Amino acid sequence: MNILITNARQLITLKGPTKVRAGKEADELSIIENGALAIKGEKILAVGTTEEIKANYVSDKIIDASGKVVMPGFVDPHTHPVFVHTRENEFAMRIKGKSYVEISKSGGGIRSSIEAVREASEDELYDLAEKRIWRMISNGTTTLEAKSGYGLSTESEIKMLKVIRRLNENLPIDIISTFMGAHEFPVEYKDNHEEYIRILKEEMMPEVKKQKLAEYCDIFTEEHVYNIEQSRDILNHAKKLGFKLRMHADEIEPIGGAELAAEVGVISADHLGAASDKGIQALSKAGVIAILLPGTIFSLGIKSYARARDMIDAGLPVALATDYNPGSCNCDSMQFIITLACLQMKMTVAEAITASTINAAYSLEMGDRIGSLEAGKQADILIMDMPSYKFLPYHFGSNNVQTVVKNGKTIIGE
Ligand code: NIG
Ligand code: FE
Repeated sequence: MNILITNARQLITLKGPTKVRAGKEADELSIIENGALAIKGEKILAVGTTEEIKANYVSDKIIDASGKVVMPGFVDPHTHPVFVHTRENEFAMRIKGKSYVEISKSGGGIRSSIEAVREASEDELYDLAEKRIWRMISNGTTTLEAKSGYGLSTESEIKMLKVIRRLNENLPIDIISTFMGAHEFPVEYKDNHEEYIRILKEEMMPEVKKQKLAEYCDIFTEEHVYNIEQSRDILNHAKKLGFKLRMHADEIEPIGGAELAAEVGVISADHLGAASDKGIQALSKAGVIAILLPGTIFSLGIKSYARARDMIDAGLPVALATDYNPGSCNCDSMQFIITLACLQMKMTVAEAITASTINAAYSLEMGDRIGSLEAGKQADILIMDMPSYKFLPYHFGSNNVQTVVKNGKTIIGE
């Protein structure tokens, strides 16, 4: 069956070089005015003006996008959606002046999410995460990455990853899983880090690999969790076992996380709110993608955001993500993240859209299949109820998505 989407006031194609976009390339959206596209099955068949598409393709169904913007679905490359209870009490404590690290050290933080995840059944975790992911989908996310890291034992990390695998199988969007046993030290090993690292390396990682539950391995490198030496050891071991690497680097303190990310060869270095100039240069030279998470900075009440302008000017490709999680950022909307990226990090609207689509796709090594609207790619498409792409960050706190098409099927709207 062929579907045509026609009369888009702006069709944001992001057609461009077949690689992650850096520098000036990141500011180019390749817009077709009065645009249209033809979909056949799960794929995009052709993209052009409405006149061209109507003249060359017949269809069983036409979706009229008059006055609207049509663009690629959002790719959210950093989330933690599998957990039991939310932690709004910590949000309230931050309003009163407590910092994320202070709250973590006094019994809150990641550790306070562990027990409930260990006790929950796979089905309970699945049902909770499914609801959250549907909220993301209704906000325009058509692909997302999801991490484990609230179990911190072999059994419960495997349980989390199985939940992510089932979510990927059952929900209409693509969900890429990442093993993050190095999210924190569980309380029973708080005074014996060596033993937990041994379990991570010798028990958890081989089991995750054996069951083929995750392609990527991530770590929270920060002064109060995994220091640089521990992170180097864990990441190099993961690499030896065949994992590809991601990293939470220099989120809060500039401890050399970005430099380590460049050294070990991660695909993406995430957060980077406090990354040094040297770190930014090293990432750029090593070909790493920076995934910036301005929602987390916003929700933590920190004043300084990642230096996206310096990064883009240094030639570093930038992607954006929600970091959706129960503690530091309970935001499920890539649209709001784009608003923050523009206002607080001075990214242009075009750069922020590039960062949320094609660059995010490359950060998950899926840039050849998703992230732009081009013939042959997956038909992952949004129809946005807005007159121009610049409206997206301007109209915030509300959902601009009218229709979500995933793999050629309408999953939200008509
Ligand atoms: O990306 N930085 C580590 N992990 C999350 C926080 C998770 C939590 O607080 O539960 C983050 O900010
Ligand atoms: Fe995170």
